[in-house]
Amino acid sequence: MIRLVLDCDPGTDDAFAIMLAALHPATELMAVSTVNGNVALPHTTENALRVLDHIGAQVPVFAGADRPLVRADLPIPRDVLNADNPKFQVAELALPPSRTPVQDVPAVRMLIDTFLDPANADVALVAIGPLTNVALALEQEPRLAERIPRLVLMGGAHVGGNVTSTAEFNLWADPEAARAVFTAGLREIVVLPLDATHSAPLTWADCDAFADLGTPAGEAAAMFLRHRIAQDQTPDGLKAEPSAPVHDPLCVAYLIRPDVITSGGAFPVTVETTGELTLGQLIVDTRPWSKAPVTATVAFSAAVEVFREVLMEAFAHDLGTGPTPP
Ligand code: BDR
Ligand code: CA
Repeated sequence: MIRLVLDCDPGTDDAFAIMLAALHPATELMAVSTVNGNVALPHTTENALRVLDHIGAQVPVFAGADRPLVRADLPIPRDVLNADNPKFQVAELALPPSRTPVQDVPAVRMLIDTFLDPANADVALVAIGPLTNVALALEQEPRLAERIPRLVLMGGAHVGGNVTSTAEFNLWADPEAARAVFTAGLREIVVLPLDATHSAPLTWADCDAFADLGTPAGEAAAMFLRHRIAQDQTPDGLKAEPSAPVHDPLCVAYLIRPDVITSGGAFPVTVETTGELTLGQLIVDTRPWSKAPVTATVAFSAAVEVFREVLMEAFAHDLGTGPTPP
């Protein structure tokens, strides 16, 4: 059984990751922590609770940082950031309001207690939002760098960006936190950047396949994916068919099926925190002769067939009735 803690900012793709981790037979989702990111913290927390209640999973949710490590807010205000596509990030996921309350322990405390506990030496940390909670936990308890066996994160882009031409949202939203995490001396960091997630987009056919499962997770996944495809801003001419990347669950899929990653390598990796045009850029030093220490493994491409298979395996499960027969 692969045990994990998920640090997230739901977000429809975070919702996919929560459902995958909570429902796949190979994973045990021990806790969810939330962070300011796609939407403000009260909404990311409510959304995480909604998703878990919707699928009937009993996983504790802990609220974390409501702003970046050193900045008052995102590098540019959210309404300015989303001005060209205001419908993409909805504050509240279209699921019934949560019934389960958030835990009264702060997320950073939960992360420290979980990873200091020797009984949790096998537990992976999966971070799919801005890295504020992870950076705060490492700052307050530096021994975590040795205790977290592996950190798998969605963030950055080796080539290009999404929020700016050079930066991806999760690293850009709190670049100082991201830099702190990459320089903390963690035992293993695996980065799934846009290069990998964009190489495995899901399609309308996947919406139908999820809906046909007839489970709460399948129906929610179909709804979220339809929204993502409808709002995707990639010009049609650049896509073989209507599709959208679903970034965050690729991290969980990687834990279950490492072969979902089809290329990548181990490199010196850091994050730009001061550049005028490059704030939040993931810097991957691919020079073979580089003398800088290797700090992370970076994925460059992914296999959509494997990704799809893992998602279908998980979303077929209805915790009320067990797995739905094919
Ligand atoms: C990442 O940013 C967020 O908008 C998504 O949830 C994902 O974690 C993609 O850049
Ligand atoms: Ca996210």
